[in-house]
Amino acid sequence: MSDRSEPTSILFICLGNICRSPLAEGIFTHLVEQRGLSDRFHIDSCGTGGWHAGNAPDPRSVLIAAKNGLDITHLRARKFDADHDPHQFDWHIVMDRNNHDDVLGMGTPANKVRLMRSFDPTLKSPSDVPDPYYGGDDGFDKVYEMLTRACDGMLTHLGH
Ligand code: 4NP
Repeated sequence: MSDRSEPTSILFICLGNICRSPLAEGIFTHLVEQRGLSDRFHIDSCGTGGWHAGNAPDPRSVLIAAKNGLDITHLRARKFDADHDPHQFDWHIVMDRNNHDDVLGMGTPANKVRLMRSFDPTLKSPSDVPDPYYGGDDGFDKVYEMLTRACDGMLTHLGH
């Protein structure tokens, strides 16, 4: 794990890396910038699947981000890299239990993996950030709220 002189590296992980994890990356990056902590963190996101590799985030994620003053249009999807990601990142923050099992199966040490909503202080027991891909637009509103609470809780957990 990093000491104080090294940035903490955080990888947000979902299935496709076009809906949930790029939004989480955008929200967390924004919070970190707002608090003047940019040099303390290295932030990235990826998907356990590679179908959308190279693609921009889903337009519905772009829209909900923009409604909240965030621009995530520059992000591009990539697949989890089993050769490098398990060593390279201090924290693997997964959106749901399937992602959790998949990254463990691809060699991430269990002590580096956390469910995104385990950092939501309003939840008694952690649950999944539901996959909004096949649902309606209001799914993205809900996902945005869940991710904002969890990102804020995560920064608190990390001592900021
Ligand atoms: P995400 O959503 O994991 O939040 O990026 C999905 C995006 C694409 C697919 C599934 C989930 N897909 O099957 O292509």
